[in-house]
Amino acid sequence: MNTLLENVSDFSERYLKPDDLPGIVTLQDIVADRLSHAGTPRFIVKRSGEYFAAHLQDPHAMFGVTRPDGELLAQMIFRVSNALPREELGVPELPGLQEGGRFSVAQGMVVHPDWQGNGLMKLLLREWFSWCGRNGIMHLAARTEHSHASSKGGFLKHGFADLGTITDQRDNARVCVLHKILEDGGQ
Ligand SMILES: CC(C)(COP(=O)(O)OP(=O)(O)OC[C@H]1O[C@@H](n2cnc3c(N)ncnc32)[C@H](O)[C@@H]1OP(=O)(O)O)[C@@H](O)C(=O)NCCC(=O)NCCS
Repeated sequence: MNTLLENVSDFSERYLKPDDLPGIVTLQDIVADRLSHAGTPRFIVKRSGEYFAAHLQDPHAMFGVTRPDGELLAQMIFRVSNALPREELGVPELPGLQEGGRFSVAQGMVVHPDWQGNGLMKLLLREWFSWCGRNGIMHLAARTEHSHASSKGGFLKHGFADLGTITDQRDNARVCVLHKILEDGGQ
C-alpha cells in the first residue's frame, strides 16, 4: 500500500515554474532551519533563488508536491550536466558513461519536516527516473553527506550504487557519491 496516500489525502504533483520561486525558497529554508536545530546543517547545501530560477529552465527541471492551498511539501531539481564527473561530482568517472555524455544530478531534494517518512522521496525519485527516461538520459547521480542514513538509504533502495566517499574540497564535507544507470522504460 502507498503510505503517502494514507497520510496525505489531498496533494498534487507537478513541475514547478517561476511563480513557485518564493515557495521553493521557503520550503528550503524551513528544512534547513530544522536541520540546523538538529545539529545536521550539512545534510543540504542551501541554494539561492537565482540557482533555483536557473534550474526551472531547459535543460533542467524542478518537480514538486503541493497541498491544495499551494504550499510545497517536497521538491527536487532534476539537473542536467555534461561536465566531467570529476568537476560535477568529485569522482573520476561514472561507470559506463561515454566521454562528454549527459547525466542528471539530483539537487535540492527536500521534504517538509512534518511530512518526512511518508514516501515523498520515493515519489520524487520515481518522477526523476521517468523524466530522465523521457529525455534520453540514462546516467543519474546524487551526492549525500556520508552519515545521512535516510537520504543514502533512500537512494540505495532505489537501485543506486555507492561509488564511494570523497572529501569535498570546497568545505571538507565527507560526501557519498551515488550512481544509477536507468534500464529501458525509465526505471
Ligand atoms: C532525506 C529525505 C528527502 C527523505 O524523504 P522522505 O520523504 O522522508 O523519504 P521516504 O519516506 O520517501 O523514504 C525513502 C526511502 O528511504 C528509506 N529510508 C528512510 N530512512 C532510512 C534510513 N534511516 N535508513 C535506510 N533507509 C531509510 C525508506 O524506507 C524509503 O524506502 P522505500 O522507498 O523502499 O519505502 C527527507 O528526510 C529530507 O528532506 N531530509 C532533509 C533534507 C535532506 O537531507 N535532503 C537530502 C539531501 S541529499
